Amino acid sequence: MASYEEVGIGDAVLLDEISVRAFVDNLRVRYNGGKIYTYIGEVCVSVNPYRTISLYGKEYVAQYKGREIFERPPHIFALADAAYKAMKRRGKDTCIVISGESGSGKTEASKIIMRYIAAVTNVAGQQEVERVKNILLQSNSILEAFGNAKTNRNDNSSRFGKYMDINFDFKGDPIGGNVQNYLLEKSRVVLQQQGERNFHSFYQVLFGATDSELSRLKLKRDVSQYHFIRQGGTPRVDSIADKADYKQCQQAFKTLGFTQEQVDAIWRIVAAILHLGNIEFSSGGEDTQIMNPKVVNNIAELLHVSPEEVRKALCHRVIAARGEVMEKRHTGSEASFGRDAFAKAIYERLFSFIVDGVNRAIEVRYEGTAARYKYSTVIGVLDIYGFEIFERNSFEQFCINYCNEKLQQLFIELVLKQEQEEYKREGIAWQNIDYFNNQVICDLVEQPHKGIISITDEACLNVGKVTDEMLLEAMEGKLKGHQHFTTRKLSPMDKELKHVEEFRIKHYAGDVVYNIKGFLEKNKDTLFQDFKRLMYSSSDPVISGMWPEGAQDITMTTKRPLTAGTLFKNSMVALVKNLGSKEPYYIRCIKPNEQKSPVIFDQERVTHQVNYLGLVENLRVRRAGFAYRQSYDRFLRRYKMISQYTWPNFHGGTEREGTKILIEEQGFTNDVKYGNTKIFIRSPQTLFALEQGRAKLIPGIVIFLQKMWRGAVCRLHYRRLVATLTILRHYRLYKMRSYILELNRVFKNVRQMPDYGQHVRWPAPPLVLQSMVADFQSIHNRWRAHMILSNVPKKDWPQLRIKVIAGDVLMGKRSDWGVREIWEGNYLASTKDNPEAATFQSAVRNMRNKDGFREVLFSSMVRKINKKDKMAERAVLLTDRHIYKLHSKTFKPLRSPIPISEVTGVSVSPGQDQLVIIHLRGGNDLVVSLSSLSNANRVGELTGLLLRQYSLMNRSELRVVVAPALQCMLGHKSRMVTVEESTVATFPAFRRGSKRGDLVYTWPSSMNKELPPPTTKSHHPRHAPPPPPSRSPNPNGYRNSNGYNHGHTKNNGHTTSYLHAQENGRTYANAGRY
Ligand SMILES: Nc1ncnc2c1ncn2[C@@H]1O[C@H](COP(=O)(O)OP(=O)(O)OP(=O)(O)O)[C@@H](O)[C@H]1O
Ligand SMILES: [Mg+2]
Repeated sequence: MASYEEVGIGDAVLLDEISVRAFVDNLRVRYNGGKIYTYIGEVCVSVNPYRTISLYGKEYVAQYKGREIFERPPHIFALADAAYKAMKRRGKDTCIVISGESGSGKTEASKIIMRYIAAVTNVAGQQEVERVKNILLQSNSILEAFGNAKTNRNDNSSRFGKYMDINFDFKGDPIGGNVQNYLLEKSRVVLQQQGERNFHSFYQVLFGATDSELSRLKLKRDVSQYHFIRQGGTPRVDSIADKADYKQCQQAFKTLGFTQEQVDAIWRIVAAILHLGNIEFSSGGEDTQIMNPKVVNNIAELLHVSPEEVRKALCHRVIAARGEVMEKRHTGSEASFGRDAFAKAIYERLFSFIVDGVNRAIEVRYEGTAARYKYSTVIGVLDIYGFEIFERNSFEQFCINYCNEKLQQLFIELVLKQEQEEYKREGIAWQNIDYFNNQVICDLVEQPHKGIISITDEACLNVGKVTDEMLLEAMEGKLKGHQHFTTRKLSPMDKELKHVEEFRIKHYAGDVVYNIKGFLEKNKDTLFQDFKRLMYSSSDPVISGMWPEGAQDITMTTKRPLTAGTLFKNSMVALVKNLGSKEPYYIRCIKPNEQKSPVIFDQERVTHQVNYLGLVENLRVRRAGFAYRQSYDRFLRRYKMISQYTWPNFHGGTEREGTKILIEEQGFTNDVKYGNTKIFIRSPQTLFALEQGRAKLIPGIVIFLQKMWRGAVCRLHYRRLVATLTILRHYRLYKMRSYILELNRVFKNVRQMPDYGQHVRWPAPPLVLQSMVADFQSIHNRWRAHMILSNVPKKDWPQLRIKVIAGDVLMGKRSDWGVREIWEGNYLASTKDNPEAATFQSAVRNMRNKDGFREVLFSSMVRKINKKDKMAERAVLLTDRHIYKLHSKTFKPLRSPIPISEVTGVSVSPGQDQLVIIHLRGGNDLVVSLSSLSNANRVGELTGLLLRQYSLMNRSELRVVVAPALQCMLGHKSRMVTVEESTVATFPAFRRGSKRGDLVYTWPSSMNKELPPPTTKSHHPRHAPPPPPSRSPNPNGYRNSNGYNHGHTKNNGHTTSYLHAQENGRTYANAGRY
């Protein structure tokens, strides 16, 4: 009913019409559409596909695991899951009853169920549970080898009924199990119809065993040599791989813990039966002889008994009468009968032994874990023969059909009981359901004294010659008038029944005519005691252990053993009782055709099966009152979208009220009943209408859900993102705060430090603060500058600025660049430097008037060399716009002034000399030696002023070269000026050098000044105590904020100190900005 693509109607309860025809038509439509499973409520009808279909893979297991039956398309997994869930959730024992005729797929279904259970259990991967599962699955191959055979209906037909319990622990994991077998078709051991085979085991050993194994078993790899397996004429079948199956069976024996001795004994018994089939008796007369005594030897050897005893048991019978023991020789036919009975009996015993072995392997182990498994729950799986109606039906069919009557009885009882109980629980008035109750047929078979089994047993009890005909007569006598029993004598007009041979039972599933021949014998199931004793006498403990009753003394009067009919009846009663105590689930298998074809749907054959399986009856019971019922919560959850009052959620009361509102809105009130916990819907049409309404809305809802889900996912991501960012932000803040605190700690006392913390190492900043730290450092630098500058009088700042600029390019390169001097600039205006200061000043005024500059930046006497290498005394004047070359006396300009923009660079030497080369555009540089009366050092001052003015005017920096040999241009020629110190010279002078074009500038070393040690060295190490305050403070010296003098005698010692401090590596560009 879920919204999947359906073919036909998935649940027959929803068919418009309840009839066999409508039901079969629906099965056909579904079968042709590849849908082999159809529900009748919770009963699963399975039509054998006769082909491998991919319906059982992992993806299917996942689709059905933990789901409700109605949620997914009909599937056997859904039923297995329902049984498993009921067992696990509610702790209920459940059982799955699989029925159907031979070849309809019962055994396959039971294996699919077991595999499903194996797939959904043991999620914890326990080794022990895995072992149990493996044993449960492998037990199938042994049981099939010994209990299955090729028949004309099914190449792998189970010739026994099987009921298997699987035990589960409290977690729902399988911990063991138990197999119960019913009525093995042992007649097959000695007799097979044309086209059929004996049990697979015989062929497996012939085709699968090695040559040496075969020779030990005294066998030849030739089916035609053995009477018991050659009768059907089909030793090999395409669909059966005997050799591989033998291997698998041997492996399974190992897995299940059969000992080598046991396995050996098993195959020896199988071989002995084959040999037994070849025993022939001489016919005629009382003196029956074995024609092929060699075969007897083989049998004796294989069974570990003496050949003589084998021969005796086959030809004689020992009877004890009134304390006397007599030996009676068999007639030929008696001997043959005995031989066959013996062969059948040994095989049956062998089969029981194997089932016991399987049970030992899978039994629930209690050792040490008794308490844990005390409350194990069970799922039973019943794979039992369905109704059989052959041309000729004998005692076996009678038993099988009786079994099906019992199961139908149970089914009706349980379904009706469940239905009735549900009505009661739900407070709905019980309505009579019109169905056929087959109790009367069960009684016909099993009632004491009057039932067919009782009558047959009585006939067997009679001493003397009681024949099958007499038995039929007895039945006629006792069952006369019974509505479901008749014979030709009782209804003479019924020409279908043969006189004194046949009787008909009107089964719930159809009429079956049984032939009475063999009933008595099959019911008695005689096996001469001699054989039991023979087997018990075996020296092989495995074989003798199978026949404990052989130990009884011949003379002991034993109770008559129960007849086969009674044994079967008892086992059926026990089975039904067992199943009745469990919650049942049904799988009804249907065979679509006789040809084992995947494409034929034989309408007639299927109709027949639908009839005798009572499926329509089943449907009728299920539909008797209501086609559909569902708990209110589930109902509302499924259909709430149909009504505006219930979508998306009903808030107006209980789920029952919600359901009611929905039903009323849709106008279905008259077709439903409200139970205590469930809604009951009478007609399928109502349900269809609901389903259709739902199906129409589902696509929109799916899109809506997708939309919501996408939104939810995005919101989730967004929230995560925001959270991440918050964490990031806080973390970043934390890191920053920690760093700032650290800075705080490290720089706490910098105010007290002589270098204001310049030497303090900056802790490594977190990544986020790296760019910020540069700013901090710049702030620190500014602060330091501020601290230093605050000790410098404002009027000295312009001078300091020039010094910084000069220092920037000269410090460290020139030994003395005049930093310690007071830079006054316009020296020629002062009589200190120029006695003709007045003349100079008047000349300057003229020039200012003429050229319109604003201020004089620098003036000095110089010794100049020209392009002709001639030295001359001159004066140089630097204004804010030009450079003038002046006459040394009159101070008149000798040429028109050179605009500062013409300057291209400055070169000076590293020594104390006063050489300055001002590079100019036009091929004639100004090459001069500054001179003064006080022998002052003014190279730095001129360089600084020139640099500053140039950068103010051109917004770019001038190149400064400091080197002992300097290049210059004179008369458009490149010349080298080499600086030489001379001890003999008394004044600085230029001369030609040794190389053509070179010039030498000599500087008298006598003019060198004594330099104080570098100022940086006077800095105190970080933790060293500051120097003591100067006792007699220099009148020109400044104090820093600590009150300490820097120890320079000149009035601008602070500047020097600052600039030298910069030498530690700080840039002068920064300082220049101050
Ligand atoms: N679900 C299935 N998928 C594929 N093939 C199947 C399926 N069910 C049955 N068959 C085929 O049908 C054959 C007969 O099935 P199975 O032996 O289960 O019948 P059965 O009802 O147990 O018969 P019997 O009463 O004779 O034992 C299988 O050997 C297999 O080839
Ligand atoms: Mg089977």
